[in-house]
Amino acid sequence: ASASPPPMVTPAASQPPLTQDELKKIAAYKAVEHVQSGMVIGLGTGSTAKHAVGRIAELMKQGKLIGIVGIATSTKTYEQATSLGIPLSDLDTHPIVDLSIDGADEVDPDLNLVKGRGGSLLREKMVESASKKFIVIVDESKLVGHIGGSGLAMPVEVIPFCWSHSLIRLKALFAGSGCVAKLRTGDDGEAYVSDNGNYIIDLYFERDIGDLNEASDRILRLPGIVEHGMFIGLASSVIVAGVHGVTVKTK
Ligand code: 5RP
Repeated sequence: ASASPPPMVTPAASQPPLTQDELKKIAAYKAVEHVQSGMVIGLGTGSTAKHAVGRIAELMKQGKLIGIVGIATSTKTYEQATSLGIPLSDLDTHPIVDLSIDGADEVDPDLNLVKGRGGSLLREKMVESASKKFIVIVDESKLVGHIGGSGLAMPVEVIPFCWSHSLIRLKALFAGSGCVAKLRTGDDGEAYVSDNGNYIIDLYFERDIGDLNEASDRILRLPGIVEHGMFIGLASSVIVAGVHGVTVKTK
């Protein structure tokens, strides 16, 4: 009797799984398909957004995108875009942004986000809230049931003046939710300073934040607070790259 043929090995099965960075790149490239010549584009910050900025520059060099103007959401993105030859502007000159593309730290089922673990929440929120369309790009590890419930930080940007007083007041706002508040520090143990010269206090919730709009109002009512990292109702769509492919979530 002849030997039975060897089992079929599909190419996919023989390949190593995609890395988290490859998934981020897939989501970023998918989002850049929405960029059209002549658009004013909000350029996000972080390891996922970096791929989108790189892809936009690549398409510009190939002559497939012309007349693009970028608005950077951080000095880091400003430097990347400048080094790649993307012309940059700001909200003073271009108050309406056609499309922003940025990563996120957490995405809930209603497309509310936590952003700012990279420290750029204020400029990100300014640019993305001025955008006609805001596409969020993430790998599937960023999807959560409730934002703030992952045990990871929800950042709040505060002015340096009496920051420890702000920390105590922030903590007191969420006294019932087992909230831990910590000043963000750098590798040198010194306070992390944002692009705007401010400090960041990271809030860690034992459970989730509760009502997001109420939490937002309470935080923003405190003097000394500049902005928080909850992006409520700002995302138009979220492109999620996972090991089984890309999905697009829209409101
Ligand atoms: C920076 C941000 C980033 O978008 C967020 O931290 C996600 O970063 P990454 O793409 O590196 O995972 O909000 O302030």
